[in-house]
Amino acid sequence: ALVSMRQLLDHAAENGYGIPAFNVNNLEQVQAIMEAADETNSPVIMQASAGARKYAGEGFLKALIAAAVESYPHIPVVMHQDHGQSPDVCKGAIAMGFSSVMMDGSLLADGKTIADYDYNVDVTTKVVQMAHVQGISVEGELGCLGSLETMKGDKEDGHGAEGTMTREQLLTDPEQAADFAKRTQIDALAIAIGTSHGAYKFSRKPSGDILAIERIKEIHRRLPTTHLVMHGSSSVPQDLLAEIREFGGDMKETYGVPVEEIQEAIKHGVRKINIDTDIRLAMTGAIRRFLAENPSKFDPREYLKPARAAAKKICVERYNQFGTAGNA
Ligand code: G3H
Ligand code: 13P
Ligand code: NA
Ligand code: ZN
Repeated sequence: ALVSMRQLLDHAAENGYGIPAFNVNNLEQVQAIMEAADETNSPVIMQASAGARKYAGEGFLKALIAAAVESYPHIPVVMHQDHGQSPDVCKGAIAMGFSSVMMDGSLLADGKTIADYDYNVDVTTKVVQMAHVQGISVEGELGCLGSLETMKGDKEDGHGAEGTMTREQLLTDPEQAADFAKRTQIDALAIAIGTSHGAYKFSRKPSGDILAIERIKEIHRRLPTTHLVMHGSSSVPQDLLAEIREFGGDMKETYGVPVEEIQEAIKHGVRKINIDTDIRLAMTGAIRRFLAENPSKFDPREYLKPARAAAKKICVERYNQFGTAGNA
Protein backbone atom coordinates (compact mmCIF):
# COMPACT_ATOMS: atom_id res chain seq x y z
CA ALA A 1 0.00 0.00 0.00
CA LEU A 2 1.07 3.60 -0.58
CA VAL A 3 1.92 5.17 2.78
CA SER A 4 3.31 8.51 3.93
CA MET A 5 7.01 8.81 4.56
CA ARG A 6 6.37 10.00 8.10
CA GLN A 7 4.83 6.64 8.98
CA LEU A 8 7.87 4.69 7.77
CA LEU A 9 10.46 7.01 9.28
CA ASP A 10 8.69 7.06 12.68
CA HIS A 11 8.82 3.25 12.74
CA ALA A 12 12.47 3.30 11.69
CA ALA A 13 13.30 5.75 14.50
CA GLU A 14 11.42 3.72 17.11
CA ASN A 15 13.30 0.61 16.05
CA GLY A 16 16.70 2.12 15.25
CA TYR A 17 17.09 1.34 11.57
CA GLY A 18 17.49 3.29 8.33
CA ILE A 19 15.66 3.07 5.00
CA PRO A 20 17.42 3.41 1.66
CA ALA A 21 15.54 5.73 -0.71
CA PHE A 22 16.24 4.59 -4.23
CA ASN A 23 15.80 6.80 -7.29
CA VAL A 24 13.66 5.37 -10.09
CA ASN A 25 13.32 6.26 -13.74
CA ASN A 26 12.10 3.12 -15.47
CA LEU A 27 10.40 -0.26 -15.23
CA GLU A 28 13.46 -2.36 -14.43
CA GLN A 29 14.51 -0.14 -11.52
CA VAL A 30 11.03 -0.24 -10.00
CA GLN A 31 10.94 -4.03 -10.38
CA ALA A 32 14.42 -4.46 -8.89
CA ILE A 33 13.53 -2.45 -5.78
CA MET A 34 10.22 -4.27 -5.27
CA GLU A 35 11.78 -7.71 -5.73
CA ALA A 36 14.51 -6.84 -3.22
CA ALA A 37 11.98 -5.48 -0.72
CA ASP A 38 9.80 -8.56 -1.12
CA GLU A 39 12.74 -10.90 -0.60
CA THR A 40 13.97 -9.09 2.52
CA ASN A 41 10.55 -8.01 3.83
CA SER A 42 11.50 -4.33 3.74
CA PRO A 43 9.45 -1.13 3.50
CA VAL A 44 10.13 0.86 0.32
CA ILE A 45 10.94 4.48 -0.42
CA MET A 46 11.07 5.12 -4.16
CA GLN A 47 11.90 8.61 -5.29
CA ALA A 48 11.72 10.43 -8.59
CA SER A 49 13.67 13.54 -9.49
CA ALA A 50 12.29 16.19 -11.81
CA GLY A 51 14.56 14.60 -14.43
CA ALA A 52 12.98 11.19 -13.82
CA ARG A 53 9.49 12.60 -14.28
CA LYS A 54 10.60 14.16 -17.53
CA TYR A 55 12.44 11.03 -18.73
CA ALA A 56 9.64 8.54 -18.07
CA GLY A 57 6.73 10.91 -18.54
CA GLU A 58 4.33 11.56 -15.68
CA GLY A 59 1.68 9.07 -16.77
CA PHE A 60 4.18 6.26 -17.20
CA LEU A 61 5.83 6.91 -13.84
CA LYS A 62 2.49 7.03 -12.10
CA ALA A 63 1.41 3.75 -13.68
CA LEU A 64 4.71 2.04 -12.78
CA ILE A 65 4.29 2.93 -9.13
CA ALA A 66 0.64 1.89 -9.14
CA ALA A 67 1.74 -1.45 -10.60
CA ALA A 68 4.39 -1.84 -7.88
CA VAL A 69 1.87 -1.20 -5.12
CA GLU A 70 -0.69 -3.52 -6.70
CA SER A 71 1.81 -6.34 -7.31
CA TYR A 72 3.16 -6.25 -3.74
CA PRO A 73 0.14 -5.39 -1.56
CA HIS A 74 1.95 -6.45 1.63
CA ILE A 75 4.85 -3.99 1.16
CA PRO A 76 4.43 -0.38 2.35
CA VAL A 77 5.61 1.98 -0.40
CA VAL A 78 6.42 5.68 -0.23
CA MET A 79 6.51 7.57 -3.50
CA HIS A 80 8.67 10.62 -2.92
CA GLN A 81 9.53 13.68 -5.01
CA ASP A 82 13.31 14.06 -4.85
CA HIS A 83 14.76 17.60 -4.83
CA GLY A 84 11.64 19.60 -5.56
CA GLN A 85 13.07 22.97 -6.61
CA SER A 86 9.93 24.99 -5.98
CA PRO A 87 6.55 24.72 -4.26
CA ASP A 88 5.07 24.26 -7.75
CA VAL A 89 7.11 21.12 -8.43
CA CYS A 90 5.92 19.71 -5.07
CA LYS A 91 2.35 20.64 -5.88
CA GLY A 92 2.63 18.78 -9.20
CA ALA A 93 4.02 15.71 -7.46
CA ILE A 94 1.16 15.68 -4.96
CA ALA A 95 -1.34 16.01 -7.81
CA MET A 96 0.34 13.02 -9.42
CA GLY A 97 -0.26 10.93 -6.31
CA PHE A 98 3.12 11.08 -4.58
CA SER A 99 2.88 10.46 -0.80
CA SER A 100 5.91 12.55 0.11
CA VAL A 101 7.80 15.53 -1.31
CA MET A 102 11.15 17.17 -0.84
CA MET A 103 11.25 20.95 -0.96
CA ASP A 104 14.92 21.68 -1.55
CA GLY A 105 15.11 25.33 -0.57
CA SER A 106 18.86 25.27 0.02
CA LEU A 107 19.16 26.55 -3.54
CA LEU A 108 16.96 28.93 -5.51
CA ALA A 109 14.68 27.43 -8.17
CA ASP A 110 17.48 27.78 -10.73
CA GLY A 111 19.19 24.92 -8.91
CA LYS A 112 22.52 26.70 -8.64
CA THR A 113 22.25 29.85 -6.56
CA ILE A 114 22.62 29.40 -2.80
CA ALA A 115 19.42 30.57 -1.14
CA ASP A 116 19.34 32.66 1.99
CA TYR A 117 17.88 31.17 5.14
CA ASP A 118 14.64 33.17 5.10
CA TYR A 119 13.88 32.06 1.54
CA ASN A 120 14.40 28.42 2.55
CA VAL A 121 12.13 28.77 5.60
CA ASP A 122 9.49 30.51 3.51
CA VAL A 123 9.23 28.04 0.59
CA THR A 124 9.53 25.01 2.88
CA THR A 125 6.78 26.28 5.17
CA LYS A 126 4.52 26.86 2.16
CA VAL A 127 4.99 23.27 1.04
CA VAL A 128 4.40 21.87 4.55
CA GLN A 129 1.14 23.83 4.80
CA MET A 130 -0.02 22.51 1.42
CA ALA A 131 1.15 18.92 2.02
CA HIS A 132 0.21 18.19 5.62
CA VAL A 133 -3.51 18.85 5.16
CA GLN A 134 -3.43 16.05 2.56
CA GLY A 135 -1.43 13.63 4.71
CA ILE A 136 1.70 14.08 2.60
CA SER A 137 5.14 14.17 4.26
CA VAL A 138 7.76 16.84 3.59
CA GLU A 139 11.56 16.67 3.54
CA GLY A 140 13.49 19.94 3.70
CA GLU A 141 17.19 20.62 3.19
CA LEU A 142 19.51 22.89 5.11
CA GLY A 143 23.12 23.40 4.07
CA CYS A 144 24.55 22.79 0.61
CA LEU A 145 25.74 19.47 -0.70
CA GLY A 146 29.29 19.63 -1.91
CA SER A 147 32.84 18.51 -1.38
CA LEU A 148 34.97 19.43 1.64
CA GLU A 149 38.00 18.39 -0.46
CA THR A 150 37.44 20.86 -3.30
CA MET A 151 34.99 23.26 -1.58
CA LYS A 152 32.88 22.98 -4.72
CA GLY A 153 29.15 22.47 -4.95
CA ASP A 154 27.62 19.40 -6.31
CA LYS A 155 27.39 19.83 -10.09
CA GLU A 156 27.79 16.36 -11.48
CA ASP A 157 24.10 15.74 -12.03
CA GLY A 158 23.28 19.27 -13.10
CA HIS A 159 22.11 20.79 -9.84
CA GLY A 160 24.33 22.20 -7.12
CA ALA A 161 25.73 25.52 -5.99
CA GLU A 162 28.04 27.44 -8.28
CA GLY A 163 31.49 28.62 -7.32
CA THR A 164 33.64 28.00 -4.29
CA MET A 165 31.88 27.48 -0.98
CA THR A 166 32.86 27.91 2.64
CA ARG A 167 32.98 25.13 5.23
CA GLU A 168 30.08 26.89 6.88
CA GLN A 169 27.91 26.48 3.77
CA LEU A 170 28.97 22.87 3.28
CA LEU A 171 28.07 21.75 6.81
CA THR A 172 24.59 22.05 8.29
CA ASP A 173 24.60 24.18 11.43
CA PRO A 174 22.93 22.36 14.37
CA GLU A 175 21.40 25.48 15.93
CA GLN A 176 20.00 26.65 12.62
CA ALA A 177 18.70 23.14 11.95
CA ALA A 178 16.77 23.20 15.21
CA ASP A 179 15.25 26.58 14.33
CA PHE A 180 14.47 25.39 10.79
CA ALA A 181 12.67 22.24 11.94
CA LYS A 182 10.65 24.19 14.48
CA ARG A 183 9.63 26.96 12.09
CA THR A 184 8.82 24.79 9.08
CA GLN A 185 7.39 21.72 10.83
CA ILE A 186 9.06 19.41 8.29
CA ASP A 187 8.98 15.64 8.78
CA ALA A 188 12.56 15.02 7.69
CA LEU A 189 15.67 17.12 7.22
CA ALA A 190 18.37 16.59 4.61
CA ILE A 191 21.73 17.66 5.98
CA ALA A 192 25.04 18.62 4.41
CA ILE A 193 28.07 16.73 5.76
CA GLY A 194 30.42 16.64 2.78
CA THR A 195 28.61 14.20 0.51
CA SER A 196 27.68 15.09 -3.05
CA HIS A 197 25.66 13.44 -5.81
CA GLY A 198 27.09 11.19 -8.47
CA ALA A 199 30.08 8.86 -8.69
CA TYR A 200 32.85 11.38 -7.94
CA LYS A 201 32.46 12.16 -4.26
CA PHE A 202 35.91 11.63 -2.74
CA SER A 203 39.42 11.24 -4.15
CA ARG A 204 40.26 8.79 -1.34
CA LYS A 205 38.42 6.62 1.15
CA PRO A 206 36.86 9.39 3.26
CA SER A 207 37.88 10.12 6.83
CA GLY A 208 36.25 12.53 9.29
CA ASP A 209 37.81 15.64 7.77
CA ILE A 210 35.91 15.22 4.49
CA LEU A 211 32.90 13.15 5.64
CA ALA A 212 31.55 14.80 8.78
CA ILE A 213 29.74 12.01 10.61
CA GLU A 214 30.50 13.88 13.87
CA ARG A 215 28.32 16.74 12.61
CA ILE A 216 25.38 14.33 12.38
CA LYS A 217 25.81 13.51 16.05
CA GLU A 218 25.76 17.23 16.95
CA ILE A 219 22.65 17.81 14.86
CA HIS A 220 20.92 14.78 16.34
CA ARG A 221 21.74 15.89 19.91
CA ARG A 222 20.18 19.30 19.19
CA LEU A 223 17.23 17.85 17.25
CA PRO A 224 16.52 14.36 18.58
CA THR A 225 13.03 13.98 17.10
CA THR A 226 13.60 15.13 13.50
CA HIS A 227 14.34 12.34 11.02
CA LEU A 228 17.65 13.06 9.28
CA VAL A 229 18.30 12.36 5.60
CA MET A 230 21.63 11.69 3.93
CA HIS A 231 21.86 12.58 0.26
CA GLY A 232 24.68 11.55 -2.03
CA SER A 233 24.98 8.29 -0.11
CA SER A 234 26.00 5.82 -2.77
CA SER A 235 28.98 3.74 -1.70
CA VAL A 236 30.41 3.54 -5.24
CA PRO A 237 31.60 -0.08 -4.88
CA GLN A 238 35.08 -0.63 -6.30
CA ASP A 239 34.03 -3.96 -7.85
CA LEU A 240 31.36 -2.20 -9.92
CA LEU A 241 33.88 0.40 -11.13
CA ALA A 242 36.24 -2.46 -12.04
CA GLU A 243 33.50 -4.26 -13.97
CA ILE A 244 32.63 -1.13 -15.95
CA ARG A 245 36.32 -0.55 -16.76
CA GLU A 246 36.87 -4.19 -17.71
CA PHE A 247 34.14 -4.01 -20.34
CA GLY A 248 35.12 -0.77 -22.03
CA GLY A 249 33.86 1.94 -19.68
CA ASP A 250 35.88 4.95 -18.62
CA MET A 251 35.62 5.55 -14.85
CA LYS A 252 38.28 7.55 -13.02
CA GLU A 253 39.48 6.62 -9.53
CA THR A 254 36.80 7.58 -7.02
CA TYR A 255 35.33 6.71 -3.62
CA GLY A 256 31.82 6.84 -2.20
CA VAL A 257 30.31 6.83 1.28
CA PRO A 258 31.40 3.65 3.07
CA VAL A 259 28.50 1.52 4.31
CA GLU A 260 30.02 1.41 7.82
CA GLU A 261 29.85 5.23 7.99
CA ILE A 262 26.17 5.10 7.06
CA GLN A 263 25.62 2.45 9.73
CA GLU A 264 27.22 4.80 12.28
CA ALA A 265 24.98 7.64 11.05
CA ILE A 266 21.90 5.45 11.49
CA LYS A 267 22.81 5.17 15.18
CA HIS A 268 22.53 8.97 15.33
CA GLY A 269 19.19 9.82 13.77
CA VAL A 270 19.68 9.22 10.04
CA ARG A 271 16.57 7.40 8.80
CA LYS A 272 16.53 7.99 5.02
CA ILE A 273 19.58 7.29 2.89
CA ASN A 274 19.43 8.41 -0.74
CA ILE A 275 20.94 6.10 -3.34
CA ASP A 276 20.89 6.52 -7.10
CA THR A 277 24.46 6.18 -8.40
CA ASP A 278 25.05 2.64 -7.04
CA ILE A 279 22.08 1.37 -9.05
CA ARG A 280 23.31 3.22 -12.14
CA LEU A 281 26.75 1.64 -11.77
CA ALA A 282 25.35 -1.85 -11.16
CA MET A 283 23.09 -1.74 -14.20
CA THR A 284 25.76 -0.29 -16.46
CA GLY A 285 28.34 -2.88 -15.40
CA ALA A 286 25.91 -5.72 -16.06
CA ILE A 287 24.87 -4.37 -19.47
CA ARG A 288 28.47 -3.74 -20.55
CA ARG A 289 29.46 -7.24 -19.47
CA PHE A 290 26.50 -8.89 -21.21
CA LEU A 291 26.99 -7.07 -24.50
CA ALA A 292 30.76 -7.67 -24.47
CA GLU A 293 30.30 -11.37 -23.74
CA ASN A 294 27.38 -11.80 -26.15
CA PRO A 295 28.15 -9.59 -29.16
CA SER A 296 25.52 -11.23 -31.34
CA LYS A 297 22.58 -10.61 -28.99
CA PHE A 298 20.21 -7.71 -29.55
CA ASP A 299 17.04 -8.42 -27.58
CA PRO A 300 16.85 -5.71 -24.86
CA ARG A 301 15.21 -8.20 -22.51
CA GLU A 302 18.37 -10.26 -22.55
CA TYR A 303 20.63 -7.45 -21.30
CA LEU A 304 18.04 -5.73 -19.12
CA LYS A 305 17.51 -8.94 -17.16
CA PRO A 306 21.07 -9.03 -15.74
CA ALA A 307 20.90 -5.25 -15.26
CA ARG A 308 17.75 -5.66 -13.18
CA ALA A 309 19.35 -8.49 -11.21
CA ALA A 310 22.41 -6.34 -10.49
CA ALA A 311 20.22 -3.46 -9.29
CA LYS A 312 18.26 -5.87 -7.09
CA LYS A 313 21.47 -7.18 -5.53
CA ILE A 314 22.48 -3.65 -4.45
CA CYS A 315 19.01 -3.08 -2.97
CA VAL A 316 19.07 -6.38 -1.04
CA GLU A 317 22.52 -5.52 0.35
CA ARG A 318 21.43 -2.06 1.53
CA TYR A 319 18.17 -3.36 3.07
CA ASN A 320 20.25 -5.83 5.09
CA GLN A 321 23.07 -3.39 5.93
CA PHE A 322 20.76 -0.58 7.08
CA GLY A 323 18.57 -2.88 9.23
CA THR A 324 15.54 -2.28 7.01
CA ALA A 325 15.01 -5.99 6.36
CA GLY A 326 12.20 -7.60 8.30
CA ASN A 327 10.35 -4.33 8.93
CA ALA A 328 7.75 -4.29 6.14
O1 G3H B 1 19.49 14.13 -6.91
C1 G3H B 1 20.06 13.40 -7.67
C2 G3H B 1 19.56 12.11 -8.12
O2 G3H B 1 20.67 11.26 -8.29
C3 G3H B 1 18.71 12.23 -9.34
O3 G3H B 1 19.46 12.59 -10.44
O4 G3H B 1 18.39 14.57 -11.51
O5 G3H B 1 19.83 12.96 -12.81
O6 G3H B 1 17.56 12.29 -12.06
P1 G3H B 1 18.76 13.15 -11.79
P1 13P C 1 23.97 9.30 -5.06
O1 13P C 1 24.35 10.05 -6.29
O2 13P C 1 25.10 9.20 -4.09
O3 13P C 1 23.38 7.96 -5.34
O4 13P C 1 22.85 10.17 -4.29
C1 13P C 1 21.52 10.18 -4.72
C2 13P C 1 20.71 11.26 -4.06
O5 13P C 1 21.09 11.89 -3.09
C3 13P C 1 19.39 11.53 -4.65
O6 13P C 1 18.74 12.59 -4.03
NA1 NA D 1 14.87 13.53 -1.39
ZN1 ZN E 1 19.93 14.22 -3.36
